[in-house]
Amino acid sequence: MTRVWIGVALGAVLLTSLPSTAQDDVAAADVERGRVLYHNCVQCHGEQGEGNPLALAPGIGGFGAWYVEAQLRKFQSGIRGTHPDDLQGMRMQPMSRVLRNDDDIRAVAAFVATLPRANPPITLEGGDVERGKAFYATCGACHMADGTGMQAVNGPGLVHTNDWYLFTTMQRFKSGARGGNPQDVNGALMRSMSNTLTDDQAIKDVVAYIMSLRKP
Ligand code: HEC
Ligand code: HEC
Repeated sequence: MTRVWIGVALGAVLLTSLPSTAQDDVAAADVERGRVLYHNCVQCHGEQGEGNPLALAPGIGGFGAWYVEAQLRKFQSGIRGTHPDDLQGMRMQPMSRVLRNDDDIRAVAAFVATLPRANPPITLEGGDVERGKAFYATCGACHMADGTGMQAVNGPGLVHTNDWYLFTTMQRFKSGARGGNPQDVNGALMRSMSNTLTDDQAIKDVVAYIMSLRKP
């Protein structure tokens, strides 16, 4: 057992000590392959990852590669996007299957991370930013006070995607349509957090506050 861990640790040291040019070459090759694979995604997520409300597809441009990878793996394994009440998720779930293996997932995620931050237009009305700010006090612990996300706790950025997507996503966390699969550990964590928002108005308020955090 300890041997394995020493091996893992050594591997990590070797990886991090690769000359930076070699690392950059690997990364650049991934991004290029990812650009080609991303042709499969444009129809719904847009050329620049800006999203497409008609396809119910959120903006994904500029999301951390780690988050994109994690979600693509969940869609592929059916941990996300298979609940019968999750119509949005079920549109994406089969699409994840065009990615044939882990290398494909890594490559397309690396490419998505190079796209500009999406910042799609604000569409929801009736949210109270001040009330939302109070609700958001809990959220900042994992999504950062400025809503840009925190990889260390797997909390994605929230500010640069669509307000309607945040809204319907919170509703789905609450109902269990997202994050309800017993294997979805991070989804379950987020589900428990979604219960701090008691109704649709509270969700609207917090989403309005998140949108107010955007920097021009
Ligand atoms: C047929 C339309 C369609 C295609 C094609 C498609 N997607 Fe999606 N995608 C969606 C929808 C709809 C959602 C929203 C799912 C949800 O609400 O849970 C989504 C969600 C996602 C998410 C999760 C975003 C988040 O904030 O959690 C990622 C990542 C993603 N797609 C990546 C991709 C990639 C990469 C491709 C190409 C290989 C792709 N999608 C192709 C429709 C599509
Ligand atoms: C304890 C940490 C934690 C707290 C606190 C937390 N979240 Fe999350 N949140 C997460 C994690 C982890 C995920 C990723 C879930 C996944 O992998 O599906 C997530 C995902 C999300 C998503 C989905 C984003 C996307 O692109 O699909 C939204 C929306 C969200 N959180 C909103 C909130 C709001 C609003 C609050 C406060 C009421 C909150 N979160 C509090 C950990 C947290």
